Amino acid sequence: MKRIVTILAVSLAAASFSGPVLADEHGEVSKVISKQEQQKMVNVAHRGASGHAPENTMGAFQKGFEMKADYIEIDVQMTKDGELVVIHDTTVDRTTNGTGKVGSLTFEEIRQLDAGSWFSESYAGEKVPTFEEVIDAFRGKVGILIELKAPELYPGMEKKIADALMERNMHLSNNGKVILQSFNHESMKKSKELLPNLPHGVLVGAGWKNVTEEQLAQFAAYADYFNPTMSIVTDELVSDVHEAEMKIYPYTSRTQEQALRLFDLNVDGIITDYTEHVYYHPVKNN
Ligand code: G3P
Ligand code: CA
Repeated sequence: MKRIVTILAVSLAAASFSGPVLADEHGEVSKVISKQEQQKMVNVAHRGASGHAPENTMGAFQKGFEMKADYIEIDVQMTKDGELVVIHDTTVDRTTNGTGKVGSLTFEEIRQLDAGSWFSESYAGEKVPTFEEVIDAFRGKVGILIELKAPELYPGMEKKIADALMERNMHLSNNGKVILQSFNHESMKKSKELLPNLPHGVLVGAGWKNVTEEQLAQFAAYADYFNPTMSIVTDELVSDVHEAEMKIYPYTSRTQEQALRLFDLNVDGIITDYTEHVYYHPVKNN
């Protein structure tokens, strides 16, 4: 009963409001969001639309593009023979039918693996994509948030990524919507030197809950984004990050409630497995 009353109350508020409302896929209103708020919120499809397709595959990136995400987020690592590949874990065990460390396998070996069946049989045969395949397929269509995953394991990775972007003239400005980020902040400093015109971000975990203004100023010397785990995001953190002239895209929202909380906190973007949680769904009239 309480739930119905809440929905009715919000529905009445929505009815008297001329802008869009944020509702779930069934059209149930969950919060009134102004059109301006909804449009300015950057929607990042985490590892592609990974709630709907196997993470970090071309299928997941295509789905993120089709769902109108602003960015697809990709995790980049390097094979034993130096190929840049897109995969999250430092082993292939969880997301393919193979075993072993990414850095101990050759590209040929990784390419044989099935990266889709673990998620659903309908994705059987998906491959681990190369970094170059992803940027060639999606640049100009959707923004690309490139995470350098565990770069400490892959010496020279920053230069390889920079070279691939430079070969395609993607390093000149950010009109192609490319951002680089990593939990490894030294790697970001290195990358910023190689790609000074592209925005960079520092990823941080819960240990940075009490980040100081001074630390934020140090990050801002080379980073444009401070992207924390969503559990540490507060009004104060958001305003401190903005004060330091950086943007904040927390990770990783997996429920509508989490996305709504981040809307309330006034973050700049939401990294989510479910792109649809960040977009307006028309409310049914019946
Ligand atoms: O984009 C941020 C997020 O991807 C960081 O965490 O573990 O999913 O790579 P993870
Ligand atoms: Ca990532």
